[in-house]
This record gives sequence, C-alpha cells and structure tokens, in this order.
Amino acid sequence: MSLTSPVTDSSAPLFSPTLISPEVLAQLPEGYSCRPLQRNDYYNSFLDVLRVLTTVGDISEQQWNERYEWMSHRNDEYFLLCITNETGKIVGTGALVVERKFIHNLGLVGHIEDIAVAKDQQGKKLGLRMIQALDYVAEKVGCYKSILDCSEANEGFYVKCGFRRAGLEMAHYY
Ligand code: ACO
Repeated sequence: MSLTSPVTDSSAPLFSPTLISPEVLAQLPEGYSCRPLQRNDYYNSFLDVLRVLTTVGDISEQQWNERYEWMSHRNDEYFLLCITNETGKIVGTGALVVERKFIHNLGLVGHIEDIAVAKDQQGKKLGLRMIQALDYVAEKVGCYKSILDCSEANEGFYVKCGFRRAGLEMAHYY
C-alpha cells in the first residue's frame, strides 16, 4: 500500500495474513480464529474488548477510520490482531509495535501492547494464544526480542506465556 492511498476495502487485513501462526490457528477452540484487524472491526466489538483492559473513550467511526488508515500505512510496524469466536465476533485483541533501532546492528524490538480477552471468554487460553500469535509475528519480521509492561497481578500470566521479569517500568504521564 502507498503512503497516501485510502483503505477502500473495509474488510482488507491490516497486514499480511501470512504472518498468522498456523500453530495458533490449529490450537484455538473449535470455530475460533485469529486474524489481522480490519477497518470494519469498528462494528465488531474490537473497542468493547479493549474496554476490559482500560478506558477507551467514545471513538467516532471517522476517528477510528483516521487512526486505522494511519496504522495501515505503517503496516510493517503496527500489527494488531484479533481472536474471533464461532460467530466471527472479536473476543480477544493484542498488538505488536515494531521499533527500529540503531543499536544491536539496526535491531528490531517488538513491543507487546493492549492484550485483552472478553470477560466471558477468559480462562480458555485465548490470552496465551494471542501472545503466541504476536510472538510469531515478532520473530517472522525479525525482532530479536519482545518486551511488555504489565501489572504485578498479570505477571503470572506472562510467565506462563514464556516471559520473564527484566528490569523495572518507569513512567511520566502527560
Ligand atoms: N495471573 C496468573 N496466571 C494467570 C493470570 C493471572 N492474572 N491470568 C491467566 N493466568 C494463567 C491461566 O491460569 C493459564 O494457566 P494454565 O496454563 O496453568 O491453565 C495461563 O495463564 C493462560 O491463561 P489464558 O486462559 O490464556 O488467559 P486469558 O485468556 O484469561 O487472558 C488476560 C489473560 C489477557 C490477562 C485476561 O485475563 C484479560 O484480558 N485481562 C484484562 C485485561 C488485561 O489485564 N490485559 C493485560 C494487560 S498488560 C499488556 O497489555 C501488555
């Protein structure tokens, strides 16, 4: 996609579906799937699932489209994934943002962000599958590591996903 072309096909994937892990697809519950975000997911519970995680706000369709368009022009950097149930409704979300560095020989670092599973779908390993799917993308696009910030309450989940504590998060809020 060019840097200016609009996203006219609302069901086109944000990034190449070849980056979806076949193992994750095979391990999801019957009828569930994992795919890149699409522009028409505005109408498919994506923002509602994110509300499980934190405040989302009242985002209009136009605001959504503008942000989606911005991300789709950076679709080698923004990898937003959805897990859908047997009716196609989004029940899990997660993001990988790929940072390009000078250090480590122009290394790429994956930042795992905004993991959320719908309340009534938690405990079915969907969170784990989402992390595995994001790990797969990170490895495929050439990241040498992925990192994330989380609360103490979620540490056990990420340990089960293969992460380990490394350093300390600090923040300035603006
Ligand atoms: N603490 C310890 N272990 C946990 C936790 C936890 N908070 N949550 C899940 N686990 C364990 C499960 O018991 C399971 O263990 P098992 O393999 O021994 O059975 C394993 O981790 C995998 O659990 P899943 O079923 O995949 O977890 P789920 O689908 O419920 O997703 C998640 C976990 C994403 C944390 C979900 O509870 C959620 O959406 N929470 C609210 C939003 C949130 O806090 N998101 C993470 C923010 S941090 C970030 O985005 C980088």
